[in-house]
Amino acid sequence: MSGMPAADAAAPLTDRRIILSAEGLSKHYGQVTALDDVSLAIGEGEIVALVGDNGAGKSTMISILTGLVQPDAGVLRLDGEEVLIESPRHAQELGIATVFQNLALVNQREVAANLFLGREPTKFGFIVDRRRMVEQAAEAVQRLRVGLPNVRALAGDLSGGQRQAVAVARAIVGGGRVLLMDEPTAALGVRETRRVIEFVKELRAQGMSILLISHNMQDVFELADRVVIFRQGKKVGERVISETSMDEVVGLIVGNSYGSEA
Ligand SMILES: Nc1ncnc2c1ncn2[C@@H]1O[C@H](COP(=O)(O)OP(=O)(O)OP(=O)(O)O)[C@@H](O)[C@H]1O
Ligand SMILES: [Mg+2]
Repeated sequence: MSGMPAADAAAPLTDRRIILSAEGLSKHYGQVTALDDVSLAIGEGEIVALVGDNGAGKSTMISILTGLVQPDAGVLRLDGEEVLIESPRHAQELGIATVFQNLALVNQREVAANLFLGREPTKFGFIVDRRRMVEQAAEAVQRLRVGLPNVRALAGDLSGGQRQAVAVARAIVGGGRVLLMDEPTAALGVRETRRVIEFVKELRAQGMSILLISHNMQDVFELADRVVIFRQGKKVGERVISETSMDEVVGLIVGNSYGSEA
C-alpha cells in the first residue's frame, strides 16, 4: 500500500538539528515483517527512547542503523545527506557507535585493550603502542566520569555496570557522536543502573545524540527527551516525554492486539 504516510511518520517532534534519520524503512525476514515503513530521527544532543514489546522491531532498527543489516526499503540520512551504511565498521567511521546488549568484552584482556579491539594505536604501523593505548583509554574513561577501577584491570573482573561503561567508552573512543544502545541496563542491579543512567546523561551533556532501547519505563522517563513506540514492526506513536505519561506509552506499546501472535 502506498497512500498517505502516517501522521507522525515524517516530521519528528523536535526542533533540534537532525543528526541521524531513517525514513520509510522496511525489513522482512521470510514471512516475518520485522519493520514496516518506519521513520525515526535523532537530534543533536538528544536522547530518543525506542520502546515496544518483544519482537516489535527495535533491535532490527539498530542493526540497520549500525550497518549489520540492510533494509529492503527506505533511506538513512546523516546530517541530511543520504547514506548507505554498509557495515558496522563503516557506521563507526561515520561516527555511529553501538552498544549491543551482549557486550562482547574479552574477559581475559584488560579494560584498555577492550576499548580498542582491532583499532589499537600502533607504532611503526604495526606494533601496538601500549603506552598510547593506556593513555587514550584512561582519557576516555575520565571523559565518561564513571568509576572504573583502572584501565589495566581485567574486563572479566568488572561488575555489570562497569562492563557497560567499558562498552560505551569503546563506542565513543572511535569518535562517535551518535550512540545506539540496546537495553543497556537490562542485566544490571539498582546501583549499576543508576551509574549507567548518570553517564548517559553526561554523554548527552557533551552533545552526544543517543538512541536508547529500553523496556524500563522509569529509565525512559528519566532519560529520554522523546519516545518512539513500535508495535509489530510499525511505528505506532511518537511523543515528547514531558507531554506524555507512562500509561499512555504503555497503552501504545500493547495496543489493541495485545496477546496476538501476528
Ligand atoms: N535474523 C533474523 N531472522 C529472522 N527473523 C528475525 C531476525 N531478526 C529479527 N527477526 C524477527 O523480526 C522481528 C523483530 O525482531 P527484533 O529483534 O527487531 O525485535 P525487538 O523489538 O528487538 O524485540 P526484543 O524486545 O525481544 O529484543 C521478530 O519477529 C524477530 O523474530
Ligand atoms: Mg531486541
